[in-house]
Amino acid sequence: MAIKPVLRMGDARLWQVAKPVIHFDTQQLHELVLDMRDTMQDMNGAGLAAPQIGVGLRVVIFGVQHNSRYPDAEAVPETVLVNPFITSLGDALEEDWEGCLSVPGLRGLVPRFAHIRYQGLDEYGALIDRTASGFHARVVQHECDHLDGILYPMRIQDMTKFGYNEELFPDQEMQDE
Ligand code: NI
Repeated sequence: MAIKPVLRMGDARLWQVAKPVIHFDTQQLHELVLDMRDTMQDMNGAGLAAPQIGVGLRVVIFGVQHNSRYPDAEAVPETVLVNPFITSLGDALEEDWEGCLSVPGLRGLVPRFAHIRYQGLDEYGALIDRTASGFHARVVQHECDHLDGILYPMRIQDMTKFGYNEELFPDQEMQDE
């Protein structure tokens, strides 16, 4: 389909609460997913939410293949998740670094639930119901936050742990998420 421009922090559309999808397996929804996939791949992202391309619907995509450049990053299944619902499994939180295609060039240390269950539908209306931990759980929580108008900098607790990739990680080649 098409690579779309990704909205950046400051654009008011990123603060909106997105609306649920009502009709599944429609041409409109399939085109949205294709646009999101093209855009995410073009920017080398781990995930993308529909509001990031200016569409106020509760649709996220994510997926990470195992990459030798990031041997510690576990693979995350390629997923289209519509109208997601997240439940934390236990109270345990984990802090780790996050980036975002809407906040390019920056990283922040963000607490997230270590273990979650997430439920929703795919673009055909089939149920998705999974448990996830670690990086997988983090990606899902980050993307679903976008649907409620939340960007990761709003969750940073220690603002000294927020900055430019080159300053925080001078020896690493970083990608935005
Ligand atoms: Ni993001």
